[in-house]
Amino acid sequence: MSTQNEVKVWDLFVRCFHWSLVVLFVVSYLTGDEETDIHFWSGYAIATLVVVRVIWGLIGSEHARFSDFVYSPAVIKAYARDVMAGSAKRYIGHNPLGGLMVVALLLSLTFTTLSGMVLLGVDEGEGPFASLKTAELSVPNVSFIATAYADDDDDHRSDHKASKKGGKEEEEDGLLEEVHEFFVNFTLLLVLLHIGGVVLESRRHKENLARAMVHGKKRV
Ligand code: HEM
Ligand code: HEM
Repeated sequence: MSTQNEVKVWDLFVRCFHWSLVVLFVVSYLTGDEETDIHFWSGYAIATLVVVRVIWGLIGSEHARFSDFVYSPAVIKAYARDVMAGSAKRYIGHNPLGGLMVVALLLSLTFTTLSGMVLLGVDEGEGPFASLKTAELSVPNVSFIATAYADDDDDHRSDHKASKKGGKEEEEDGLLEEVHEFFVNFTLLLVLLHIGGVVLESRRHKENLARAMVHGKKRV
């Protein structure tokens, strides 16, 4: 219910962005162990959301813009000190620490989705980085050396040159998987801190910030 004491803070795009991101993040996280299309497509959807959010951060409504919530390190430090002292003032948009968290989340999601796409490219020769795959094609129980490009077929794709995946390639895949996993876990850590921050701020100012992210309005 809208009252005169409330003001619109989060526009429709920011709210749809946020809750779609939450759902997609859970889907991506839960499907990570299997190499399924659901995992890849939810990851692509997150990457798209992040790109559109960055554009919206430049041209969107007042509190959606980076200029509204990206503060200098000095202001962030002073705000953090005030939080510790229990005297931090209330912000209608993101507070300086909240703004820092938004930037950190968007960056971490960018690295998570990018590392996933690179991993898929190198490992499977699929996705936007498919060209990174050098010469590996796997079928059950056998590994064939093949090129990722069809125009190399004048040597009949050296189809029957069975070979085990080279140790170096395996190492590379393993490393990339660890990089992807690192960013996934780092994002998860940020999400937990983010939710903790939302709960603390909601208590301190006696307002339900999660609900505000649903209907978009906050107390004046
Ligand atoms: C925020 C988005 C994403 C999250 C939360 C996420 C999460 C995960 C998790 C938890 C794993 C399992 C790691 C492990 O083996 O312990 C994983 C693996 C993987 N992810 Fe993602 N991922 C995301 C985006 C992507 C994207 C965009 C792609 C590619 C298009 C991708 C490709 C892969 C691949 C190829 C694996 C390895 C699967 C395997 O070999 O078992 N991920 N991801
Ligand atoms: C159920 C769990 C969650 C709740 C209750 C929640 C709640 C909120 C709230 C209240 C805000 C606004 C903060 C403020 O008032 O300054 C916010 C912003 C944000 N949250 Fe969450 N969040 C959750 C999960 C997540 C997850 C899983 C992600 C990322 C994977 C995420 C990413 C963000 C981002 C990027 C923003 C900035 C929104 C914008 O300005 O576009 N949140 N969240």
